[in-house]
Amino acid sequence: MSRQDRQLKVGLLFAETGVTAAIERSQRCGALLAVEQVNREGGVLGEPVLTLVGDPGGDPDRYRNLCDDYVRNHGVRLMLGCYMSHTRKAVMPVIERADGLLFYPTPYEGFEYSPNIIYGGPAPNQNSAPLAAYLTRHYGARVAFVGSDYIYPRESNHVMRHLYKQHGGEVVEEAYMPLYPSADDLALVVERVVRSAPDVVFSTVVGTGTASFYQAMAQRYGNGPRPPIASLTTSEAEIAEMGAEAARGNIVVAPYFTSVESPQSNAFVSQCRAFFPADVRITAWAEAAYCQMRMLCQAVNATGSLEVEVIRNHLYHASMDSPQGRVQVEQQNNHSHLFSRIGEIDARGQICIKWQSSTTIRPDPYVVVHNLDDWTLSMMGGGPS
Ligand code: ACM
Repeated sequence: MSRQDRQLKVGLLFAETGVTAAIERSQRCGALLAVEQVNREGGVLGEPVLTLVGDPGGDPDRYRNLCDDYVRNHGVRLMLGCYMSHTRKAVMPVIERADGLLFYPTPYEGFEYSPNIIYGGPAPNQNSAPLAAYLTRHYGARVAFVGSDYIYPRESNHVMRHLYKQHGGEVVEEAYMPLYPSADDLALVVERVVRSAPDVVFSTVVGTGTASFYQAMAQRYGNGPRPPIASLTTSEAEIAEMGAEAARGNIVVAPYFTSVESPQSNAFVSQCRAFFPADVRITAWAEAAYCQMRMLCQAVNATGSLEVEVIRNHLYHASMDSPQGRVQVEQQNNHSHLFSRIGEIDARGQICIKWQSSTTIRPDPYVVVHNLDDWTLSMMGGGPS
């Protein structure tokens, strides 16, 4: 093999600008931290790992074009990236046609399988199912749905509606706003929430609209009690954008928070602090990107091959002692066995862990197997388990 043939090249598909820039920059930094570490440890197959970067700016066509450019003009078939689900859907045919592999480090709505995608973020049975049990137990039966208007929020709400019903709960409102909401869009949605008097709001708002929505809610409710907003996607990046006052008391669910206490998590946090630019936050989705990049490099080193099929088969039998705990890829559906954690944001904008799964949860992207009562039972204590 020539030197060029031996070099692992990975195309990154993360936006530097646009509606989801804050979270995608965090993911990109997580991936690049992994590459920096691997290269310092000697690289892959004796060569430094090469990353290709571009800025698809949150626009699905630009992700597809960038992916196509990596394949056609750079001979790259291994990619890591995408945040919003319509950007993943835009890239999928290009990856499948090239018989490549896209590592996708983001929570999403489930109900998808591609042999050419390794899903590194949670599916609904790993975040929505425990969250529904937690919210109905701790806050009450009435939930209002608020989301950005695209596939992930609409499909996630479909699953959440089903979960709430199973717990005897009721969806009292379902409202959507554009990805770039105007002040009027926000005011309209907030009024619909107020009028429906929910016990809790389930938000699938993503990107810059997240901070605007939480701020508009905090302003509208003023000093009075306000229903907490629970989200699968709000992370340290969006919390930094909205500020602690709008964030406090709200609920988040993810496989990882920087408040996880373990040698792997503590090391990851200090490595990120040293590596990330000052305005980029450490998030669960940076951790997912970091883990996926490290697992890809490990697979190529272990097998000595850059062939997609060889790498994929190796991943099914590998695991990683990651910042969130030991994770692995499930051969049946290409999704990942992940931890689930529910946190509450405190007055300083820090995420305090209120509940965590005692082991990883097997991915079930079609939500066919899970018995919801399991989660209710495991939450009887209320605190971390
Ligand atoms: C998402 O669109 N999967 C956050």
